[in-house]
Amino acid sequence: MKVLNLGSLNLDYVYSVDHMVLPGETLSSYGMETFCGGKGLNQSIALARAGAEVYHAGLVGDGGEILIDTCREAGVHTDFIQKLEGPCGHTIIQVDKNGQNCILLYGGSNQKMTKEYIDTVLGHFDKGDILLLQNEVNLVDYMIDQAYAKQMMIILNPSPYNSALDTCDYSKVSMFLMNEIEGAQVTGEQEPEGILQELSKRYPTVKTVLTLGGDGAVYQDGDSICRQAIFPVKAVDTTAAGDTFTGYFITSIIEKMEPSEGLKLAAKASSIAVSRAGAAASIPARAEVMV
Ligand code: RIB
Repeated sequence: MKVLNLGSLNLDYVYSVDHMVLPGETLSSYGMETFCGGKGLNQSIALARAGAEVYHAGLVGDGGEILIDTCREAGVHTDFIQKLEGPCGHTIIQVDKNGQNCILLYGGSNQKMTKEYIDTVLGHFDKGDILLLQNEVNLVDYMIDQAYAKQMMIILNPSPYNSALDTCDYSKVSMFLMNEIEGAQVTGEQEPEGILQELSKRYPTVKTVLTLGGDGAVYQDGDSICRQAIFPVKAVDTTAAGDTFTGYFITSIIEKMEPSEGLKLAAKASSIAVSRAGAAASIPARAEVMV
């Protein structure tokens, strides 16, 4: 079972700040670093470091070669990644003294997907392969429709949530992986129980992993629910913690682990990511994730 991740690749410009800049405020940062990131890239690297065979497809712009190199060095298949002229996808990330972040995203090359490119890439995958999607690229609705027609298993991380997702046919998705904010945006419900109930009512065949920050994570498959607490650590930088969780949980599916074991593996991996700076750079290797 191969994984195709049709997703974003970003240059993350990360600024260390005392607090998140306020409206109208000019704030001096006390450090700046550039990291490789993007929800797509991070999730591909998490899959590869967890031991899965993953193919990343996506578009990089000016200065994006380092993103391809970083994927390749992590063991991700990069042959489908294309280079374009023009601005690369990038972010401005503030990380405060508690390790919390806020992210300003510029789509750039990530928003230049075409139907022709998607069709060409999907032509290399078959029934039963996994298609992993986030919402930092355009044409996610088309990707879902085409992959469903091929009987691929579609796993959607609807992040960041915005109106581009409104045209997606979620009933074609096999599994949602989302945090409670995205869960609230998708369902209109605020509490985790309400989010899970609403997802189950609207999309009865879709499995869900809902991450709850400090309250852990929940897996729902029909009437069956299992929960996992976090592994507490001192937070240095929460960037890519969710992406690490996603990559490790999908690897547990490929390895046919029980959902409870998959949640535990993913929670442990993301706790390690939280304890380190950066996005892709913070994602642990499988050997470090002893559960
Ligand atoms: O999920 C973390 C990622 O979100 C960062 O690497 C940043 O690029 C944004 O896309």
